[in-house]
Amino acid sequence: MTNTFKAVVAGTGSYLPEKILTNKDLEKSLDTTDVWITERTGISERRIAADGESASTMAAKAGKQALEAGGISPDDVDLIIVCTSSPDVLFPSTACFVQNELQAFNCAAYDISAVCSGFVFGLSIVEQYLKNGRYENILLIGSEVNSRIVDWTDRSTCILFGDGAGALLLKRVEQENPLGILSTHIYSDGRLSDLICVPGGIGRTGVNKQDIDDKKYFIKMSGNATFKVAVKRMTDVIREALEFNELSMEEVGLLVPHQANQRIINAVAERLNYPMEKVFMNIHKYGNTSGASIPIGINEAKRSGRIQPGDTSVLGVVGAGLTWGSAVIKW
Ligand code: UT7
Repeated sequence: MTNTFKAVVAGTGSYLPEKILTNKDLEKSLDTTDVWITERTGISERRIAADGESASTMAAKAGKQALEAGGISPDDVDLIIVCTSSPDVLFPSTACFVQNELQAFNCAAYDISAVCSGFVFGLSIVEQYLKNGRYENILLIGSEVNSRIVDWTDRSTCILFGDGAGALLLKRVEQENPLGILSTHIYSDGRLSDLICVPGGIGRTGVNKQDIDDKKYFIKMSGNATFKVAVKRMTDVIREALEFNELSMEEVGLLVPHQANQRIINAVAERLNYPMEKVFMNIHKYGNTSGASIPIGINEAKRSGRIQPGDTSVLGVVGAGLTWGSAVIKW
């Protein structure tokens, strides 16, 4: 099939759980301070899913909002992809639960796993399906319930993460349309798989008491090493996106980076010589929501007017795997 089509964003949505956990709250149970967390990460508070909430329930809420914004009935959705590293269960996919919740029964539904880079990886898949004409309407959702996979006694990781979901409805349009997804670039390096991981092996060793006692079913991270790699990879892959589209940073209206650490984002912006006023930030409110971070950011930027018609936005991500990527969207 030839590429006679492209993908445009037709609707956006997000959902954040109501419960707020502040740094001050964490001071009560951990050897940490509000000052340390704020200065080292930029995070002030994060959202925590309530009992009964999960990646699928939050994803369905964000997805419903994106469908309503795009004026598309669940019956007209051709595919649902959920990007998550905190799925409801090992299988079936979280996307199948979302499909049921949305009553979108004329579609296929599956999950992808690229952790914090998941949404840009998902965007690259959606781009292909829409470009080649296979589908017309795709719902791409990032949803994470990180609060259930962090060790709340490990101050070096638990302070970083939060829960939430974001969604984009992507639509097929003619190739001549100047708007839409202009590019995606994605990469992985499995040699760096130990940097951030949940080491407890479900398929490798089976769930076992020793691994539970050793807290191996929670996120482990080499923070310092990840930090350095994250800055370099995110900067390089954003530069690649700019070169591919023959764009200069001045022509970019908004940079929407993965919200892992304020200092990573500052360092990337500095290397790109890009002003922080044009960088979307919500890490202070939500912390790192992994695969949900980019679509939550896009939805908030769109609804608050920080993305205007005619603007060009660049997305940049890095996450466990190691995985990293970028995308360019013309609005
Ligand atoms: O989303 C995927 C990508 N994820 C990331 O990119 C995360 C990247 N890494 C980071 O964001 C940072 O490395 C952290 C925020 C995790 C850590 O910040 P850091 O500036 O790299 O601190 P560090 O690990 O070098 O630790 C410095 C000190 C240590 O104490 P000593 O050994 O110097 O006495 C830590 O024990 O800070 C201590 N520390 C804390 N102190 C108070 C670590 N966590 C905390 C804490 N509160 N929560």
